[in-house]
Amino acid sequence: MKQAEYKLMIEGGRSLNGKVQVSGAKNASLAHLCAATMARDPVILENVPDIKDIRVVIEILQEIGCEISWLGPGELKLFAPEKLKRQPPFELVRKLRASNLLLGPLIARYGSVQLALPGGCNIGVRPMDLHFKGLSGLGTEINVNQGVVESNTRGLQGSRIYMDFPSVGATENIMMAACMARGQTVLENVAKEPEVVDLANFLNCMGVKVRGAGTDIIKIDGNSEMGGCSRYSIIPDRIEAGTFMVAAAATGGNVEVENVIPFHLEPISAKLREAGVEVIELEESIKVRAGKDMYPVDLKTLPYPGFPTDMQSQFMSMLCAVPGTSVIVENIFENRFQIVDELKRMGANIKVEGRAAIVEGPVQFQGAHVKATDLRAGAALVVAGLMAEGCTQISNVKYIDRGYYLLQEKMTNLGAAIWRE
Ligand code: EPZ
Repeated sequence: MKQAEYKLMIEGGRSLNGKVQVSGAKNASLAHLCAATMARDPVILENVPDIKDIRVVIEILQEIGCEISWLGPGELKLFAPEKLKRQPPFELVRKLRASNLLLGPLIARYGSVQLALPGGCNIGVRPMDLHFKGLSGLGTEINVNQGVVESNTRGLQGSRIYMDFPSVGATENIMMAACMARGQTVLENVAKEPEVVDLANFLNCMGVKVRGAGTDIIKIDGNSEMGGCSRYSIIPDRIEAGTFMVAAAATGGNVEVENVIPFHLEPISAKLREAGVEVIELEESIKVRAGKDMYPVDLKTLPYPGFPTDMQSQFMSMLCAVPGTSVIVENIFENRFQIVDELKRMGANIKVEGRAAIVEGPVQFQGAHVKATDLRAGAALVVAGLMAEGCTQISNVKYIDRGYYLLQEKMTNLGAAIWRE
């Protein structure tokens, strides 16, 4: 059977207990793979999750001429020869939003590039105006013709650029392009996500001077040549970690989530504690134990260090079973409440009013046939299925496989009854 046709089946009502290892960050890995195309010498990345999105980016990079091979579990070696094709294959690029992170590196290395617009996805239109504004500020002429971004430049010039909004992808694209601009670039009002900081550290490993990542201002001293990077280990995936933390709390379980950076999880840990969940931070792991009583919370998604939009749906599932009224405000994407209709099939009592979803609890979820509408909604339906009485069938499993490495196996090891049909 084709992967897309599989259904994920969950027999709910079991609490999750035990330990789970978090994999490398999907969103950092995607950015680092694109950045590595700027390197003159080979690069070795460690802790790369072998998930669908990564495989698509590897295919795109191989198509333009990069030599990429897995050296072992999570270990990728990448070499970008002098001459790469400047037109990544459109049908592959359109599959993955993150392919837009090739724009900055290819402009940096080759000046001109033609890249299909990745287009929007279920959670929103996801324009690229901030990417284009920043890249133009570095001296690139950008045109979009029939869904293809065409860029030309007579050489990138470092400059001061103010981001209208701290967009993660735009910050990353402009930072990568600035690596090979003449002189210094000062980027203001930038995204501060851990994945942006990890990309800056990786660029420094390749010999570029990038300072201030994680603050509002990043300074990049352009460098005409970028070396390789012998070994770079990707940070753990804070959203995968958060998903397991919420699943443990939502099923009345007791789970230790290992291989995490607790500091990156602060917004999630704080909100769980507010809801009555016990969260204990250790050196490289976090213990989560459901509280006897759970409390409703108000949740607003914001750029980091605010509460992450990628954890909003998972919290919504958990809060459906909490007595009282919780209010969730989604400030980042304009269409990230599609999961509400699916949760309602399971018995949820949620009302959407513009950017706010009002969740009334407690509700006991009943198993149902539901469908994932995006990657994180899929994960949230897994949480709801674990909480439900009876069996839940989740279709569009492909969304979940895009971003979670061995989710089903990891949940099974924690005591979940979850299988594919
Ligand atoms: C990254 O997407 C992540 N993806 C997303 O994770 C994450 O939800 C998002 O950042 C926010 O944290 C990757 O890193 C591959 P943005 P990105 O640019 O960079 C608007 C997941 O599930 N915007 O910070 O595309 C945009 O429409 C995915 O792992 C513009 O208007 O997010 C959105 O409303 C989902 N113009 C907001 O900014 C632009 O030029 C935030 O987008 C760019 C963005």
